[in-house]
Order: sequence, then C-alpha cells, then structure tokens
Amino acid sequence: MRMESIIPIIIAAGEGTRMKSDTPKVLHTLCGKTMIEYVLKAVEDISTYKPVVVVGHGADRVKEYIGSRVEYVLQKQQLGTGHAVMMAEDHISGINGYAIVIAGDTPLITADTIKKLYKHTVDNDYAATVLTSDAENPFGYGRIVRNADNNVEKIVEQKDADESELKIKEVNSSIYCFNIKYLIESLGKLNNNNAQHEYYLTDVISILINNGHKVGALTTGDFTEIMGVNTKVQLAEAAHIMRRRINDRLMLSGVTIIDPENTYIDDTVEIGKDTVIYPGNVLEGKTLIGSRCVLYPNNRIKDSEVCDNVNIQSSVIMSSFIDEQTTVGPFAYLRPGSKIGRHVRIGDFVEIKNSTIDDESKVSHLTYVGDGNIGKKCNIGCGVVFSNYDGKKKYRTNVGNNVFVGCNTNLVAPVEVKDGSYIAAGSTVTDTVPEDSLCIARSRQVIKEGWAAKRKSED
Ligand code: UD1
Ligand code: MG
Repeated sequence: MRMESIIPIIIAAGEGTRMKSDTPKVLHTLCGKTMIEYVLKAVEDISTYKPVVVVGHGADRVKEYIGSRVEYVLQKQQLGTGHAVMMAEDHISGINGYAIVIAGDTPLITADTIKKLYKHTVDNDYAATVLTSDAENPFGYGRIVRNADNNVEKIVEQKDADESELKIKEVNSSIYCFNIKYLIESLGKLNNNNAQHEYYLTDVISILINNGHKVGALTTGDFTEIMGVNTKVQLAEAAHIMRRRINDRLMLSGVTIIDPENTYIDDTVEIGKDTVIYPGNVLEGKTLIGSRCVLYPNNRIKDSEVCDNVNIQSSVIMSSFIDEQTTVGPFAYLRPGSKIGRHVRIGDFVEIKNSTIDDESKVSHLTYVGDGNIGKKCNIGCGVVFSNYDGKKKYRTNVGNNVFVGCNTNLVAPVEVKDGSYIAAGSTVTDTVPEDSLCIARSRQVIKEGWAAKRKSED
C-alpha cells in the first residue's frame, strides 16, 4: 500500500455523562485495557506521526495514563465533536496527507479496518470516507443518509433526525479518514444550529459534498467493530465481544477453553498450547501461563508467571511465580512476591506471602507462610504458622532443605531452621534449630491416673 503522511486524531474530551462515573470515559476498561488503549493500538500501526489526542474532562488522568506516546491538545469546553477536531488544527495544518479521526469510545475497531478505510479514501481520491455499518438497533447513532445514486449525502444525529431518517439502519461509526486540506477547510464552515447546539464533526461530510468534493462511505459487515460505548451496559456488551475475540485467538493457538462464555482472560495474558481452562477462571494483567497446565474452575491469577504442567484449582494468585509440575489449591492464596519451585504442592487453605518455596516441598494444608524461605524437599505439616509480625515490624524465617515441620507449629520470626531438622508437632519455635536435630518446643504431657474416675465419684 502506498503510504502518504497519516496522522490519527483521537477525540476523547467528552465527560461521558451517560457512564455515570467519576472515571473519564475513555479510561474505562474492558478485558484489562482501557478503551483508548485499544483505539491507539488500532491506529498506531498505520500512523506516520504521533497520534494527537484531544483531551478535556479528566485531562490530567488521561495524560498520566497514556504518557508520551501521543501529542495532546486541550479542548477546554466541550462544544462538540467537530469543535474537538478544530483543537487539533495546529498539529495537522502543515501535513500534506490524511487524518484518521476516531472517537476514543470505539474500542472494538481493528487495525485492519482502519487500513481499509485509508486505502478506500486514497484509491478513490475521496476528500473523506466515513466508516459505517448496519445496526440492528441504530438508536443513539448518527444515521447515514444516501441519495438516489446510493452515495452518501449527509449524516443526521439521532436528536435531529425526522421520522423517516430514524428508520435508517446504517449508522456512523465516528471513524473517518480525511484529506487534511479539505478537513481544515470544512471545519471553518461548521455551525451549531442543531438540537444539541454543538459543532458536529458529522456535518463536515455534507459541507464537503456541498463544496463539490467526493466523499465515500465504507461499510463494514461487522457492526461490533464500530460499536460506541456510552453507557455501562454498552461497556459490558463491548467487553463480551472482546472476551470472545481473545478466547477465539487463544483457542486457535492451541489452548483448550471448556466454556469460552464463562472464561475471563485479559488481552495482556499469554497462554501456551494444550493448557486446559475450565469455567470461572479470571486471568488478569501481565500473566503468562505455560503449556499443558490445567486451570480447574474458579481461579483468579493476576500479574503472575505459571510454568508448564502446573495444575491450579479455586485459588487466588497475585504477582507470583510458579515453576513446572507444581499443584496449587483448592483454596490457596498466593500473595505478591511468592516464588514457588518445581514439583511443589501447595494445598488447601494455604496462604503464602513474599516467600520462596523451593523444589519438591509440600505445604499441604491450613498453613500461613509469610516472609519466609523454605528449602528443597521439606514437609510443612497442617496448621503451621510463620509468625512474621511482632505488632511493629516484620521479620523473615529461613527453613533449610529436607526439613520436617510438625503440625500446628509456630515459627516465630526472625528464626532459622537448619537443613535436615525435625520440629515436633505443636512447637513454638523461637530459637535456631540446628542441622539434623529434633526440636520439641512445647510443655510435656502430664498424666494423672484415675483423676476422672475420682471426680465422678465426688458427685
Ligand atoms: C457520535 C457521532 C455519531 C456516531 C457515534 C458513534 C457526532 C456529532 N456524533 O455520537 O454520529 O454515530 O458517535 O459512536 O459526532 N468528544 C470530544 N469533545 C466534544 C464532544 C465529544 O472530545 O466536545 C469526544 C468524546 O469524548 C467521545 C467522542 O468524541 O470520545 C464521541 O462523543 P459522544 O458524545 O460519545 O458522541 P455520540 O453521541 O456517541
Ligand atoms: Mg459515543
């Protein structure tokens, strides 16, 4: 494709009143990314210039989020989508080429369609092309009015449309490709004589036509691509479609997803082939899952790395690392900074925080490991507590290799348990346990023969 200068303009200054939210509209997320991030991803490929983002409501938050990969212009007062594009004039006026204008609230658009829109404009030498689609329910969208020759004539907003226009199913996506020279010319001719007293970008289309320019309308068969998100209901609809796209991509790359309608995977997650994912899994953020893992129902895994052949069930795993062949859960909670080795077993009701558990160790039931290191081939019994906090400060516990910690033991940090040692059940350990020793840190059992019988006879 012959490429001239292309600069995207993303309009994202609106308040998003209909979202009923304190968060600026374009910062709402679906499948782990904000709306504007998806829009940026779709246009960045084709851009020859840094995209210009028109900000207004919540400008500081939007800028902080996106950072320096774009240029910003401020639209102080939100006087309409046309007015928003006017704000970007200084950034585009010197460029001999095309502007892709896109609303920040259309997260489902793909880079492919943007490229087609651009090509359609250049190939036909149009002054502008608007991307359109047929909507089953066009309510709220601008309608595409075509003339007897089926050429686009104008775009009419919902609030300005007459009865026959309201019946039109073809709607405006709010995604356009403009020849910059003609765009700037037409922006100067916009007025706000309409139901909302706004400067509509949609009017640029009829202005261009009335000034003798050729304008195209490219129709995409997939309405979901152009869906605008104005309410939280539409946000959930868009997320549903995005989720399905992500799950389809993963399944086509060899991941088995038992029920894609009930599996929630962020766009940022990577998964190896032949991993099986049962319903109710929520995989978030920068998470990597290896090959041949089984994620049984109901896990939440966020910002974590899980290596090959790991099984996890009904567990929460945050910012942690799990090496190969390990099993976790059901009902385990791995908090940030947990590093679990190979062939480890983390069982039910085990909580681990900021700790390392080395290869082939077992922490099978009802245990808290906080700020600790456990070496290789250890067995941590049921109900062991790493007492890491004295009410003021936190301390670490180091357990060596081949250690056996009996049930219901407290390891009071800071404390060292050396290689090969045994700790008797019920111990409260406060001092170093030397290598290969047995530590019994509990009071002796006392037996009073006949005590119970004597008590009964006294009644
Ligand atoms: C707009 C289109 C409509 C189209 C629909 C598709 C106009 C007049 N209407 O309607 O034809 O079918 O999108 O989703 O263009 N914005 C600003 N500054 C403003 C006003 C809006 O930056 O002064 C931004 C918003 O932040 C938003 C985008 O422009 O990202 C679209 O605005 P919105 O209010 O959502 O327009 P719609 O009513 O959806
Ligand atoms: Mg909108």
